[in-house]
Amino acid sequence: MVKKNACVFISGTGSNLKSIIHSSRDPNFPVRINLVLCNNKKALGVNHAKKFGIPFRIINGRMNKFEQLALKELAERKIKLVCLAGFMRILSRNFLRRFNGKIINIHPSLLPKYKGLNTHKRVLKSKDRFTGCTVHYVNEKLDNGRIILKKRVEIKSQEIETILKKRVQIEEHKAYSMAIRKIYNTS
Ligand code: GAR
Repeated sequence: MVKKNACVFISGTGSNLKSIIHSSRDPNFPVRINLVLCNNKKALGVNHAKKFGIPFRIINGRMNKFEQLALKELAERKIKLVCLAGFMRILSRNFLRRFNGKIINIHPSLLPKYKGLNTHKRVLKSKDRFTGCTVHYVNEKLDNGRIILKKRVEIKSQEIETILKKRVQIEEHKAYSMAIRKIYNTS
């Protein structure tokens, strides 16, 4: 299989990055991670790129600087898919247009419910029985693009936020790779 080149954008721990890197080591996985871009110099997630010898760039500062350098790197490395994995900044309309339809994101809720920040806190205040995660295309509206797939997690009684986050992330780590396979019809 000829793998497509992909880049992962991160801001933090990078556990989703790690899971995608693991999946990409399978010869039948449709993408190869050629680049990791990070907007936060304290992010631990870059260690996963280092460990697997994947080129990475940390671009601090304003988003327009990040986006300018990102567009240059994405073009140079012929990147066909951008995966946002805990990337906590909003990309500009201009950036999204330049990479139209090729940017995906993971969000820790069953979209369209609980878009935005503090997701688990809001879920726990609700009477919902289920939460989960969603992988979706990125468009100009926050957490609003076409859904690729969702995974459901049952909310337990007396659930606390840190444990719920962990339980949802276990599903995120499966969901992200499943979504990438689905995009390229290799699931
Ligand atoms: C993930 O749980 C992801 O769903 C969430 O940030 C976490 C990053 O974890 N993303 C958002 O809330 C985006 N709105 P990670 O750095 O360990 O992959």
